[in-house]
Amino acid sequence: MTKKVLILTGGGDCPGLNAVIRGIAKRARKEKDWEVYGSIEAFNGVLRDPQEIVKLTSKRTAGIHIKGGTILKTTNKANPIKYPVPQPDGSIKFEDRSAELVKKLKDLNFDAIINIGGDGSQKISKALYDQGIPIIGVPKTIDNDLAATDVTFGFQTAVQIATDSFDKLVTTAESHHRCMIMEVMGRDAGWIALHTAIAGGAEICLIPEIPYDIQKLVKRIALRYKNGRGFCNIVIAEGAKPKDGTVVSQKGEKGSEHVRLGGVAYQLAAQLKAAGCTAEIRETVLGHTQRGGTPVAFDRVLASLYGVKAFELVLEKKFGHMVSLINNQITSVSLEEATQGGRFIQKEDYLIQAAKGLGITFGD
Ligand code: F6P
Repeated sequence: MTKKVLILTGGGDCPGLNAVIRGIAKRARKEKDWEVYGSIEAFNGVLRDPQEIVKLTSKRTAGIHIKGGTILKTTNKANPIKYPVPQPDGSIKFEDRSAELVKKLKDLNFDAIINIGGDGSQKISKALYDQGIPIIGVPKTIDNDLAATDVTFGFQTAVQIATDSFDKLVTTAESHHRCMIMEVMGRDAGWIALHTAIAGGAEICLIPEIPYDIQKLVKRIALRYKNGRGFCNIVIAEGAKPKDGTVVSQKGEKGSEHVRLGGVAYQLAAQLKAAGCTAEIRETVLGHTQRGGTPVAFDRVLASLYGVKAFELVLEKKFGHMVSLINNQITSVSLEEATQGGRFIQKEDYLIQAAKGLGITFGD
């Protein structure tokens, strides 16, 4: 009898999502009795009336591993447990639609669901598994901050994009004797900032895990200048904040559970000036360029392996698990374990010590 697996992508997009989808589909096609489907825009494809569920034929998945984004579309406003419902007065009320979703999934007779997404999506996977849905998680985020996996796909692509931009800012900083501040993504963890700072050769790297002292930064920048000549390159993660300060954020869009970060580069420039920094400063916010475009080879490989493994977990009926990379081995962890906190940089990490050895200042 034919069996059916349903794939969906949730949360922010990330280079490598299509490679996971293709990996699952190709592995499933090796088993004669499996059909592969995709739900459009995370669980919205199932919840909507009419439903939007597409059959992932080989024509649909051929060659997609090199494409950025997700052929299944995505959203961060479809959490079935806290589903945003617009009210007549224009406000939003969050409703629990998980029981409705579980019923719809059961009526659709899927033998397995594969949910590709970040921490929020895997919490949803866990909640659905606890309600009897045969689900497997695949970890995704450019921020690389998920617990229970050493690396997430998309991270290397984001670091490469950030490093390429950083290299360009170095030459213009040098030409104009300027201090360039480059802001990268990294809501709670500074992995992209730290890797970019090491790869690019930054003087200063500011990350959410280490609140910075502005006076120390002013001193470090001054050391780079003699008689007004010199230059300095700073990488700052969007979630970085000064000691006793707060992150720069604005209200999220209607229906989003998160505040929007971004703009911390401008705050830092103002703080440096106010603290007596005399260097000419320019700010660059990379934003979503880090999430777009084609994945680098490493991410294509990791995402493809995650896809194949996810389907193998389906064959093993190892539901309630998430694929992961631990000590260079593709393996799996329970969703329970996968959803316990995140993976953050520790001050004692060798990466921090090595960065300091390279002369990078964190402002601590
Ligand atoms: O979680 C990944 C991330 O890239 C964060 O670093 C960033 O704050 C967020 O997504 C941006 O999300 P959105 O696309 O909703 O603006």
